[in-house]
Amino acid sequence: MNLLSSCFLSRPVSLQSLPPHLNISSARIQDQRPQPYLSIRPNETKRQASNAQIPPLTAFSSSIGATVTTSLLDTFEDIIHNFIDHPLRPAVDPRFVLSGNFAPVNELPPTECEVIQGALPSCLDGAYIRNGPNPQYFPRGSYHLFDGDGMLHSLKISQGKATLCSRYVKTYKYTTERSLGSPIVPGLFSSFSSLPACIARGALFAARIIMGQYDPAKGIGNANTSLALFGNRLYALAESDLPYTVRLTSNGDIETLGRQDFDRTLLANMTAHPKVDPASGEAFAFRYGPVRPFFTYFYFDANGNKQPDVHLLSLPHPSFVHDFAITKNYALFADIEMRMKKPVEMIFQGGPPMVSDPNKVARVGVIPRHAKNESEMRWFNVPGFNPMHFVNAWEEDNGNAIVIVAPNVITIQHALERLDLVQNMMEKVRIDLKTGQATRQPISLRNLDLAVINPSYLTKKNRYVYSGVGEPLPKMSGVVKLDLSKGEFQECTVACRMYGAGCYGGEPFFVAKEGGKSEDDGYLLTYVHNENTGESRLLVMDAKSADLDIVATVKLPQRVPYGFHGLFVKETQLNKF
Ligand SMILES: [Fe+2]
Repeated sequence: MNLLSSCFLSRPVSLQSLPPHLNISSARIQDQRPQPYLSIRPNETKRQASNAQIPPLTAFSSSIGATVTTSLLDTFEDIIHNFIDHPLRPAVDPRFVLSGNFAPVNELPPTECEVIQGALPSCLDGAYIRNGPNPQYFPRGSYHLFDGDGMLHSLKISQGKATLCSRYVKTYKYTTERSLGSPIVPGLFSSFSSLPACIARGALFAARIIMGQYDPAKGIGNANTSLALFGNRLYALAESDLPYTVRLTSNGDIETLGRQDFDRTLLANMTAHPKVDPASGEAFAFRYGPVRPFFTYFYFDANGNKQPDVHLLSLPHPSFVHDFAITKNYALFADIEMRMKKPVEMIFQGGPPMVSDPNKVARVGVIPRHAKNESEMRWFNVPGFNPMHFVNAWEEDNGNAIVIVAPNVITIQHALERLDLVQNMMEKVRIDLKTGQATRQPISLRNLDLAVINPSYLTKKNRYVYSGVGEPLPKMSGVVKLDLSKGEFQECTVACRMYGAGCYGGEPFFVAKEGGKSEDDGYLLTYVHNENTGESRLLVMDAKSADLDIVATVKLPQRVPYGFHGLFVKETQLNKF
């Protein structure tokens, strides 16, 4: 067993010790049969989906000739990585990107955990699930953090007991590459290093398509970014593809039910940050891409039925829109000082698919939530406001003003290439819809992102924000509680918990207490990893306490790598799907 395969088949091995250049094929993280890939419709039941006829990936893959052809294509892929690609930039060098607790882990079947401190409150009966990248194969060459296969880490809690389960989202990409025994889909954030590499990689992927190895119409996404619950369905999401429906079984296992196209009404891809109005149950979303129309807004009714697309043609260029916000009456989009490269630029310039654009003036678009077209859309210039994520937004002054709370990326030029240099400023932005005047007010000097609120306050004026402290993103050295009622130009931090030397968490999630009386009556959940011991834990903190006191700590039987977004699903909701 060589060093590369050993780091996937046993305990994680520091990738810092890998050779300087990777002239390898690939190493698989584990060896087990994949769950079949399914494509389901919204009205199909789980049983129907499970019994669906599963087409063979290709008859091709079982023949000797196909095996030889596959080997030849894989060899060509290695040649591209080793002789055509530019030297690996730090942002796409897997020796760095997959080091430490960014290294992938094996799937973990439901495994009981030990509560080593305090007790799990009864209102946490349900499941805390967090998504994140976990490549099933060691990358042949370049690899970006955003390109890993999605893995869900679910901690199911019932009557004070906790069960951890880590499972890949069984995307079409995952199951196809699993069947072929090697990674074949170019990474969106890491594969466009130069013109020769683009041409060679494009030709190779085209050959794989022609040979029947891959059908891009079934999706290229990795479902690695977030989760969302709407229309009584739970989805794993990444903005490069359609949502994947997932469910938790009664014993805490995670099943992928299939790629969801909502009766063929949802095309190509969807944001990983849909917004679910807690009052109406509607879910609001969008998609963006490199070809016209570059941006499309839509929503789902409370039953999860997708409503017609609204193309926003006032975004005349490919833009980079990761997140957005909704108020009671509006949807808000930030057209930040970044843009998506046109396909021809990706090919001829190489590098990341999105770049900062100093010639752009950041602006916020406001459109009625139920707009049938963009005739009522208005844009407001907000120079220097470049949020990747939004925390909340609401209306004031009888609907004549909008307030947005969001971490503003003040080093937007580093947004994709140097996550270690990304600095955020949490800001409260007020837009007067009558005059068009926008004002920005910093509310903390810390580098904050991955922030949440009490979910029942989405679209409404809220007081408290709970945010990770970037060190750097997406590692969080602690969590702070911000009080938005503080006066202007005041640090709004009112509570803080740092995890300690060598300990890092991620995005917190707020779960309200049953019968809680105030907005902050609840608990904060997050996975925390100790880099000194290699151990991961779930922390449960009292959101109302002055020091975000720990009320329970769960020792996890397996490491949980650093990742992105999660959510908590109540037990009563889990039983509905
Ligand atoms: Fe995000």
